[in-house]
Amino acid sequence: MDNELVHLGIIMDGNGRWAKAKGLPRTAGHLEGLKSLKKVVRGAINENIRYLTVYCFSTENWKRPEEEVRYLMALFTNKIYGEIRALGELGVQVRLLGSRDRLPEKALEGLDRTVQETKDNDRLTLQLAINYGGYDEIIRAVNSLIRDGYKEVTCDLIRSRFDNPDIPPVDFIVRSAGEQRLSNFLLFDSGYSEFGFYDKLWPDWDEEMIHVVKQDYLKRTRKFGGLV
Ligand code: IPE
Ligand code: IPE
Ligand code: MG
Repeated sequence: MDNELVHLGIIMDGNGRWAKAKGLPRTAGHLEGLKSLKKVVRGAINENIRYLTVYCFSTENWKRPEEEVRYLMALFTNKIYGEIRALGELGVQVRLLGSRDRLPEKALEGLDRTVQETKDNDRLTLQLAINYGGYDEIIRAVNSLIRDGYKEVTCDLIRSRFDNPDIPPVDFIVRSAGEQRLSNFLLFDSGYSEFGFYDKLWPDWDEEMIHVVKQDYLKRTRKFGGLV
């Protein structure tokens, strides 16, 4: 099948707006957002999606108030290990995407442990983009080639130095909460992806939304510059 949805990318946006609408602190939106992530992972498994990349924290999100950044880092430290690892029982393999610089040691420890403990699972690969930026990804790859003495680069060479070069390029990038921009997500691999923007705030996403997303994708015709 030509347009099988193999790799879905999600820009999980709108946690703050969700909390504000309920008169809650922004952090409550992030906690609720983690619950949505778990539902969405189940939805992705139901829809036979093989790779799911979720944007959890961008290289630009360090600009947020210290208290919010600290809360998010604590979520990655204390919650991801337990909550996401539990998804391992569903056959989820967790991988990390992004720069390790600046991430607290404790968070890295828990994340690395989650990756290690789920490495043999093969139902769905969940790529967590944490401290991820598209510019940073390309720059890190090119710098690693320069360090190895390359004088010229190619697309394949650049891609070979990404964090998880075995994961195929993203087919469909969707964003919650209505904004229509990439915000530095998967700049290189989005060269020929399809895009979908949905008004629903991230904490309101669930399994059913992934069914909707998949149906929307199946209506697309992918041409990659050729003719069909
Ligand atoms: C997305 O929700 C989560 C992160 C970027 C970490 P936001 O926190 O951006 O929510 P809004 O956009 O302010 O509503
Ligand atoms: C993008 O959302 C980053 C994540 C979802 C982690 P933002 O809310 O940070 O993006 P902008 O600032 O609105 O573009
Ligand atoms: Mg936002």
